[in-house]
Amino acid sequence: MAGLVQGKIVLVTGGGSGIGRATALALAREGAKVMVADYVADGGERTVKMIKEKGGDAAFIHADVAVPNQVEMMIKKTVETYGRLDCAHNNAGIEGKPTDTVACTEENFDRIIAINLKGVWLCMKHEIPQMLKQGGGVIVNTASVAGLAGFAGLSAYTASKHGVIGLTRTAAIEFARKNIRVNCVCPGVIHTPMVERLMDSSPDYGKTELEEGEPIGRMGKPEEIAEGVVWLCSDASSFVTGHPLAIDGGWVAR
Ligand SMILES: NC(=O)c1ccc[n+]([C@@H]2O[C@H](COP(=O)([O-])OP(=O)(O)OC[C@H]3O[C@@H](n4cnc5c(N)ncnc54)[C@H](O)[C@@H]3O)[C@@H](O)[C@H]2O)c1
Repeated sequence: MAGLVQGKIVLVTGGGSGIGRATALALAREGAKVMVADYVADGGERTVKMIKEKGGDAAFIHADVAVPNQVEMMIKKTVETYGRLDCAHNNAGIEGKPTDTVACTEENFDRIIAINLKGVWLCMKHEIPQMLKQGGGVIVNTASVAGLAGFAGLSAYTASKHGVIGLTRTAAIEFARKNIRVNCVCPGVIHTPMVERLMDSSPDYGKTELEEGEPIGRMGKPEEIAEGVVWLCSDASSFVTGHPLAIDGGWVAR
């Protein structure tokens, strides 16, 4: 039986860890050829190896999404390698140093915005022209529940993720008539290396506290986000665009 994204060429940024790795694996399982991008080569290459071990097709590209010419090169290389770009999961992101609004330094603020917000914009800036050339495509950005509500102690991060939802909605409207759909996922607390680092950073982010914040009573798994991304990339969601899809164990329903 054909997979949900059979034969599609997809790009996953931040594909070397956590949610990006799970998405790359799920998209490959569903028949896509996957360009895995990350600024940490070890993680990205490991994801490619995992896909190939399961009989899938993937390649790694080293790129920092905060650096304009690296983003441009990342899209160019994807098209050179696989001939086109059908779907992009713009997922690379950082938590930065968790602080409240007052304690946040300018350097921390700028770094978080450069990767989480400007990085997503840069990716779309270079992905959309390629999709227009081909007659269409699908983009799935990674926002967060911190894009839908305030999150005390993660000031700059929360601002960046609200921004990702704004970029997503705007690009969706701009290119809806050009056969390009743009959505984002809004994960709740997902057990990845990012959350491991958060838990190590402060007792405010203890395992129990994070689990209690989730109405469902546990953290999510990266694979549970990946299934949403696969659906948004597939034709099964053909009438969905401009949507911030919360996959969050009920976090925003509280
Ligand atoms: N884990 C969660 O609870 C959670 C919740 C909501 C949203 N998110 C978002 O999901 C995305 C993935 O997070 P994760 O939990 O898998 O984190 P992670 O730290 O496990 O993985 C992030 C990956 O992105 C890469 N990366 C970071 N900055 C990059 C850059 N400038 N260029 C290229 N690659 C870069 C890292 O090297 C890493 O491989 C992020 O955007 C994050 O903000 C995570």
